[in-house]
Amino acid sequence: MRATHPPLLSANRYPLTATIKIMPDDAIPPLSGYSEPELDRAFAAVAAEVEFSAQSLRTPGDKEDFRLQWLGRKQGRLKLISDAWLKSAPPDAKKLIGQRFNTLKARIEQRLDAAASTIPADALDAQAIDITLPGARRPLGAEHPLIRTWNEIVAIFARMGYSVGVGPEVETDYYNFESLNFPPGHPARDTQDTLVVAGQERKPLRDRLLLRTHTSPVQIRTMEQQPPPLRIVIPGKVHRNDAADATHYPIFHQVEGLCVDTNITFADLKGTLDFAMKALFGSSVKTRFFPSFFPFTEPSADVQISCPFCGQAGCRKCKFSGWIELLGCGMVDPAVFEFARLRQPAYDPKKISGFAFGMGIDRVAMMKYGIGDIGLLYSGDLRFLEQFA
Ligand code: DAH
Repeated sequence: MRATHPPLLSANRYPLTATIKIMPDDAIPPLSGYSEPELDRAFAAVAAEVEFSAQSLRTPGDKEDFRLQWLGRKQGRLKLISDAWLKSAPPDAKKLIGQRFNTLKARIEQRLDAAASTIPADALDAQAIDITLPGARRPLGAEHPLIRTWNEIVAIFARMGYSVGVGPEVETDYYNFESLNFPPGHPARDTQDTLVVAGQERKPLRDRLLLRTHTSPVQIRTMEQQPPPLRIVIPGKVHRNDAADATHYPIFHQVEGLCVDTNITFADLKGTLDFAMKALFGSSVKTRFFPSFFPFTEPSADVQISCPFCGQAGCRKCKFSGWIELLGCGMVDPAVFEFARLRQPAYDPKKISGFAFGMGIDRVAMMKYGIGDIGLLYSGDLRFLEQFA
């Protein structure tokens, strides 16, 4: 509701203008006389003033100002009016003035009560807002280069119909090693320098806890939960007891991939990873597969991509070989299916086959963004991170 001016009163009479002065220290005009019509007119003018200022009560602050302005014990207008009109009035006029004075006071209190019921206690105080102040700026965050790469890799496989899985970072010896065909004491265990949880000597080896050294344990966990066919990628954090240098860090990230169905062949593996590498590094990138060894795949291969930096002309990144080794892969070893089969009989290696792969996300992020030191990914240094905003 907009405040409107009170009715204009006749010249020389209070109030004199359409712009009402409502400051508490405004002078109170003397009464023109003590007849009832004169008193009525004088009080009507004040009542109009009350109505006028009551119209613009919006906030708790306005209400308090209004209360002080009218009912303030020392400078409130009611007090000033009483001083100016009542005290000096002849005794027979006092009653007439007093009655009108009480009516006026009741009107002011009514307006205050009405305001109390319509103004929420937490309404904003107009004076408390300076709309010329600049707003609070929150610095915009940016996706961490590692997470960006993680998402990019996952999205590529999602487009090929892969779902996305997770698994625990604190893992048992069974899932991290034994069920992946690393028997106790097998030398292949030594290739993954493992951080183990202390004080578990009393447990059987298979139940002892460690920080997973790779995402491969989620292969078995997934197969235990879901019968074939299966196409899944599992991104996640892994740990190894490696000393930090420019390319090693005790924490890093991998994406595991697993595809199981009838008649899955090495050609499917090659086609899938060739497509993924082209999607990740550009369509001119070539792939080649080198014989390798992992206990849980047979045959196993390392995948190299043609150097995306020099187009195979030879550069420091590819050590002038034209190729960069990026991931491990292979056909799922029947021994691994035998472990899965303990819970899911459908993983019968005579009936199904599959491939698996594992790649380092940090490594891919470092290549894509030209990051020379893996430690930067974990430093939390804003000068580094801001460059990805
Ligand atoms: N888990 C292996 C590692 O961390 C990487 C790997 C190799 C995963 C071959 C696989 C695979 O799934 O088939 O070194």
